[in-house]
Amino acid sequence: MVRWVCVVGPKAMHPFPKRSASFFREFELIVVTGGSSGIGRTFLRRIEESMTSAVVCNVSRTVPEGWVVSPNRVHLTANLAEPAEIEGVVAALQKLMPRTGRILIINNSGFGAYGEFPSPGLEHTLRMVDVNSRAPVHLTGLLWPALLQRGGMVVNIASLAAYQPVPLMATYAATKAFLLHWSIALDCEGKPHGVRCVAVCPGPVSTNFFKGAGFSRPTNLPGQSADDCVDQAIAAMLSAQPQIVTGWSNRILSWFSARLPKPWSAALGLRAIERKLGRSVR
Ligand SMILES: NC(=O)c1ccc[n+]([C@@H]2O[C@H](COP(=O)([O-])OP(=O)(O)OC[C@H]3O[C@@H](n4cnc5c(N)ncnc54)[C@H](OP(=O)(O)O)[C@@H]3O)[C@@H](O)[C@H]2O)c1
Repeated sequence: MVRWVCVVGPKAMHPFPKRSASFFREFELIVVTGGSSGIGRTFLRRIEESMTSAVVCNVSRTVPEGWVVSPNRVHLTANLAEPAEIEGVVAALQKLMPRTGRILIINNSGFGAYGEFPSPGLEHTLRMVDVNSRAPVHLTGLLWPALLQRGGMVVNIASLAAYQPVPLMATYAATKAFLLHWSIALDCEGKPHGVRCVAVCPGPVSTNFFKGAGFSRPTNLPGQSADDCVDQAIAAMLSAQPQIVTGWSNRILSWFSARLPKPWSAALGLRAIERKLGRSVR
């Protein structure tokens, strides 16, 4: 059965900061991908606020602004589109991680692209598949034996787009559908071993995402703040919800789009997107 985190108003059910702080203190190793910006940077901020003594490691191509490196605050530079770099990250983590204690992985790195397939190019599209879908499987897979042995949690940042085929963002939405289904199935497998997985599905969030996806002008989509999105994600992590759609209007939208026949929701989605954004916003 699908269970939702019940958030009546934006802040109504947020049990922060006390419970979230003690949550992050349950882990000895915390790995966040894409902590240099947006949602990932906000996760890192919440983790820092918790004063956890865990080894906290950010993995991205650039160092997060204001990230002070120390023995238990680490940055590993890696392009997650490159499998060899993921292997390098895990080799470094094996040396850094304490011998015992639970592990938290937040697979957050990702990007989108807007336009008719394969715009803005096939190479770019394939890199998106690698970063959004392949990298979380690769990173998690290499750390899975340690997770099974020590217990922990894998958080996958999917998207509202995971619930339906999305024309003009066809590949992006499909990478997130993959991540959502993979995450929920993995949760069933991991649960008896003390490993939980949480798929976080945000709608539009005010970050650099839209610029990265090639939007040259504002999308006028109503967006959540990264703070709100991450606080709702942490609420879901606290109660090990297999999936959370952040924002109540997004939750309603996901409920309907998941129930419509897929060709219908794709056609309706295309009409809505074209009306709001046009066929090209480059
Ligand atoms: N914002 C939204 O509306 C929205 C909605 C639903 C889901 N999401 C998802 O939320 C996640 C975070 O996105 P955001 O909104 O925070 O966007 P963002 O501000 O653009 O951040 C994206 C992060 O991904 C990292 N990244 C991108 N390509 C990478 C690569 N090749 N290797 C390693 N790291 C890479 C970036 O780090 P570097 O550039 O330093 O490598 C950056 O830290 C993504 O998975 C996105 O799909 C976002």
